[in-house]
Amino acid sequence: MLPASVSSYIDKNRQAFVDDLAAFLKISSVSTLSEHDEDIRSAAQWVLDQLENCGFEGKIYQTQRHPVVLASSEHIPGAPVLLVYGHYDVQPPDPLDEWETPPFSPSTRDGYIYARGATDDKGQFLTYVKAAQAILGAGEKLPVNLKFLVEGEEEIGSPNLEKFLREHRGELIADAVAISDGAQFAPGIPAITYGLRGLCYFQLDVQGPRFDLHSGGFGGIVENPAQVLANILAALKAPDETVNLPGFYDDVLPLQKSEREEMASLPVDESRIRDYLGVPEFTGEPGYSVVERKGARPTLDINGLWGGFSGQGAKTIIPARAGAKVSMRLVPNQDPGIITRIFHDFIEKNSPAGVKVKITDLHGADPVLVSRQTTAMRAAEKAIAAGFGKKPVFIREGGSIPVVNLIKKHLGQENILLLGWGCPDDGAHSPNERFSLDDFHRAIHSVATLYYEIGV
Ligand code: BES
Ligand code: ZN
Repeated sequence: MLPASVSSYIDKNRQAFVDDLAAFLKISSVSTLSEHDEDIRSAAQWVLDQLENCGFEGKIYQTQRHPVVLASSEHIPGAPVLLVYGHYDVQPPDPLDEWETPPFSPSTRDGYIYARGATDDKGQFLTYVKAAQAILGAGEKLPVNLKFLVEGEEEIGSPNLEKFLREHRGELIADAVAISDGAQFAPGIPAITYGLRGLCYFQLDVQGPRFDLHSGGFGGIVENPAQVLANILAALKAPDETVNLPGFYDDVLPLQKSEREEMASLPVDESRIRDYLGVPEFTGEPGYSVVERKGARPTLDINGLWGGFSGQGAKTIIPARAGAKVSMRLVPNQDPGIITRIFHDFIEKNSPAGVKVKITDLHGADPVLVSRQTTAMRAAEKAIAAGFGKKPVFIREGGSIPVVNLIKKHLGQENILLLGWGCPDDGAHSPNERFSLDDFHRAIHSVATLYYEIGV
């Protein structure tokens, strides 16, 4: 149970907490663009300052690229240890002209705060800091030992986190781990996530003639890289949306009957989602529902595509080169290493002799399922019910969070709580990303309650 003093501290400081979130959101900590390296460092420092203000002791650790913040609360003997993970880096904000207000000038309207990183993940992560601050501010003692692990490379696939976890294993031992970097099932339907998809991401570069050619002078005698690329990409998927790579589905863990029944019982509002997305119809793998397709079945997507002339009017050329970014979302039991091999084999087989096709492996993450039958899960259920006034539903999410499997693998930790405070229509990675201020407030209540419930 959350002491009344803490609850009222959270209520009284609602605006102050939002102001702090706005300050965090002003830092343009885009991890993929090196011109933001200084902002990345400021964001790490901002996180450490916040934690030190709560009496935590911590440090910023350099990695090969972006720093990790590791901090812990004053040790209380006998109390459980909760490891909290979050990421302070964000995705690039483009296309900039589609933002109603600039991405790094947080703006509050209609009960939401709008900014890049509002929901992914600054707003969600900050609830853990504010909950600790509220307990201490109310004059109470923390009921739990807290360790915070906050990284700046999540949005680029956490390339240096595995090494960091191996080197700092001893400092990261905990009874449970909490991560809020996902979403509720829908607005007003809080959820606990027990599955995430994995990821395999590639770039394809097709090189044809040394330079762009006159398509009249040379058309018909050389391979056109854009055409070759289109053929390869088209071959990756069958018209019914299934993935054509031989062996792609071999290791997929089939959905249990009970799980399918549970997914079917989730209150999904398909027409609301279609309206939000602006698409007249859904598509996807035959035999599976929308909920199954977007959270529990593997997919392949073209994420970007370029080549040749795309300016105004016409230019009769055979382009010298063309390229694409292609990624696959993987589900439990699929191995990114095996899928990478299958992908390479397929591309090589489908590449004609008249061009060079280069494949670059960009990044990946393992798919994951976490146990639902743990005492930490029961604590999280109570905490969500206390903050949101509703029991959570259990869901599988389609996104990826590389740290989850790394924590399982390197810390041997199975007690992982994935508690999404955001909403699917928050616009993560999109223009006009936002986070509901009511949900921010409710989530701080939930996290504070979780701190009390976790040891019970
Ligand atoms: N917060 C997302 C992950 C997420 C999205 C979880 C939706 C649940 C639902 C995270 O910040 C993210 O975007 N991850 C990347 C990982 C990749 C770069 C390895 C992703 O899923 O694309
Ligand atoms: Zn993200």
